[in-house]
Amino acid sequence: MIRVAVLISGGGSNMLALAAAARAPGFPAQIALVLSNNPDAPGLARARAAGLEARSIDHRPFGRDRAAHEAAVHAALAECGVSLVCLAGYMRLLTPLLVQAWAGRMLNIHPSLLPAFPGLHTHARALAAGARIHGCTVHWVTEVMDDGPILGQAAVPVLPGDTPDRLAARVLVQEHALYPAVLASVTGGGATLPPPGATLANPQPLPGPTPPA
Ligand code: GRF
Repeated sequence: MIRVAVLISGGGSNMLALAAAARAPGFPAQIALVLSNNPDAPGLARARAAGLEARSIDHRPFGRDRAAHEAAVHAALAECGVSLVCLAGYMRLLTPLLVQAWAGRMLNIHPSLLPAFPGLHTHARALAAGARIHGCTVHWVTEVMDDGPILGQAAVPVLPGDTPDRLAARVLVQEHALYPAVLASVTGGGATLPPPGATLANPQPLPGPTPPA
């Protein structure tokens, strides 16, 4: 049984979806720890109510020393015997320190169909761009934000009259199905785990811009 930590900063609905899936008989992973950089994250209380071990390591006392905060996070993960980390609304930019320590052992869910719309405000940006299809992506975490090899995606149509909130709600329903499915695949042997410390790259690089004629 693979011990998984879920890192959150907010409401934790994806964390709860992972935890619910992991309770099913035969699921190859268990949620051993829920960890937040925000002691006030509503997801912490939700995790405890769901019977999960939940801790916070507030980043604010560390000031600009991101490495020291990440070292504390890493120590908590190690102490709990975690071997895979799921970022789920964890609103911290990671340094290469933590990314390299967990290379091939850290997943993220992002609310867009990557490589479209990395970063924030994805739903508003998809609407502004006139996208007809939107969705979510689970990918391996690499040093470039929202850029690692893609493990799974789920799409939703953009409907007439959509607002960012309506679109976000429709995408979130898909997130709650996609993330547990990818976690089951990765921990159950359905996806090849890279060797520890591996440099990860998408197997099929995206075509670059067409050179000018
Ligand atoms: C989700 O939309 C996730 O894709 C993004 O942040 C949001 C977190 O929501 N990274 P929740 O905390 O899981 O409810």
